[in-house]
Amino acid sequence: MESNSSDHAPHIRPTVLVVDDDAGLRESFRVILEDEYEVLGAADGLAALDVLRSRQVDLVLLDIRLPDMDGIEVLDRLKNLDAQVEVILVTAVKTVRTAVAAMKLGAFDYLTKPFDEEEVLGLIRRALERRALEREVVFLRSELARARDFDQLVGQHVEMQKLQQIISQVARTTSTVLITGESGTGKELVARAIHRQGPRHDKPFVPVNLPALSETLMESEIFGHERGAFTGAYQRKLGKFEAASGGTLFLDEIGALKPELQAKLLRVLQEREVERVGGTRAIKVDVRVIAATNVDLKSAVANHGFREDLYYRLNVVPIRVPALRDRRQDIPLLADHFIRKYNQAFNKRVERLSAEALAVLDAYAWPGNVREFQNAIERLVTLVDGPVIESSDLPLELALGDRNARAAGTDGLPLKRAREEFERQMIARVLERVRWNQSEAARLLGMHRNTLKLKVAKWGRHPSRFSAATGPVREVDGD
Ligand SMILES: Nc1ncnc2c1ncn2[C@@H]1O[C@H](COP(=O)(O)OP(=O)(O)OP(=O)(O)O)[C@@H](O)[C@H]1O
Ligand SMILES: [Mg+2]
Repeated sequence: MESNSSDHAPHIRPTVLVVDDDAGLRESFRVILEDEYEVLGAADGLAALDVLRSRQVDLVLLDIRLPDMDGIEVLDRLKNLDAQVEVILVTAVKTVRTAVAAMKLGAFDYLTKPFDEEEVLGLIRRALERRALEREVVFLRSELARARDFDQLVGQHVEMQKLQQIISQVARTTSTVLITGESGTGKELVARAIHRQGPRHDKPFVPVNLPALSETLMESEIFGHERGAFTGAYQRKLGKFEAASGGTLFLDEIGALKPELQAKLLRVLQEREVERVGGTRAIKVDVRVIAATNVDLKSAVANHGFREDLYYRLNVVPIRVPALRDRRQDIPLLADHFIRKYNQAFNKRVERLSAEALAVLDAYAWPGNVREFQNAIERLVTLVDGPVIESSDLPLELALGDRNARAAGTDGLPLKRAREEFERQMIARVLERVRWNQSEAARLLGMHRNTLKLKVAKWGRHPSRFSAATGPVREVDGD
């Protein structure tokens, strides 16, 4: 998952569930809480469990003496339903034994009757802050696990070897790194590799996809905000800088950073301190920053779209990731890698690409780079039945996307095969142009309609193989 923290977007009010058999007490909690929270009520333990099953609840105020069940048991069952829900117990008398049991089961704290409004609000606020932090931790753990699992950079081309070398060198430092490269070349993988190979590998790696953030939320997402900083800021929120504490912050598509925030980021990089939105003090942060861009930042600077001083601050160590078409030797290696990956994912047993299929892939320009390549292999692995991916399995756009307007992938093939391949591509191209009107295509190609039909029928056994670009082969009789 990318870091998209819509789950704690500030406009969503936290939900508090009040569990008490005394309707008057539930009502007075509601009056105290409803300004800041969504307030729900339940009169007994079973009703409380029902609410938790059907609604997202952030915090439960739980009376320990309920008509149907012991409060401790309700607590236990609530936590079983949602381990992350915060529970504050409410009781008339505080006994050590229950207190210990409650804490063991993960209650946040105790509230002893009678209580005052400020006490209740303060306690709830602290509990919810802890909850926000815990969520962040859970998210970061899954990010770490993901990084370890399958994010290895595949490639032996000399440019990739150089890249690996730079990665292991900069991993030891805390220098700011700017990764450039076309879309889908593996910039994020490079950032993760730098993080993983460095001394901060057991600390968080926090990716921030800047274009995905709304203009209004961008500042608070990155730098955090204090409670009440703006309408809707119901509780304090840590920004990604603080979440990445001790680790690495990955600012993806840095070119999308708003101009005001460029100035703010520059200050953070210089002072190593952040200030939350609405905050009054600077907070020290120890974070390594890696930025990435697929636009030419330097020309963005020239066109006044990007601050020059920030550009130089980020560009301490520049790393350029090569386009796939510039390291075609890696294509067979990448194919193996992704075939293995998708065999595993889809429980298939594809072994390899045929030489012809590989040749077609090799001739294609791959404007979407490794990401596009990976998607193509994924699709092929799901589609083919046998152990070998043949060139006839390839989608039309690959077969036609050759570099020099000659038939793709015919180099080095035996003449008969090359001719067949050329013919297939030629026919496909014409068919596409006439929107699959076979009679018209036959006329243009100067071949008999039945001959064409036979060929198409042969290739079109699996329509998706013949053409993934235009959908299933349609039978259109024109004359
Ligand atoms: N060298 C590589 N070896 C294996 N997988 C790779 C390699 N490069 C990229 N990938 C895979 O391709 C996909 C795209 O990589 P990544 O997201 O790192 O690219 P990117 O440069 O950040 O792309 P974008 O500019 O579109 O954000 C990912 O699924 C990644 O795992
Ligand atoms: Mg990326």
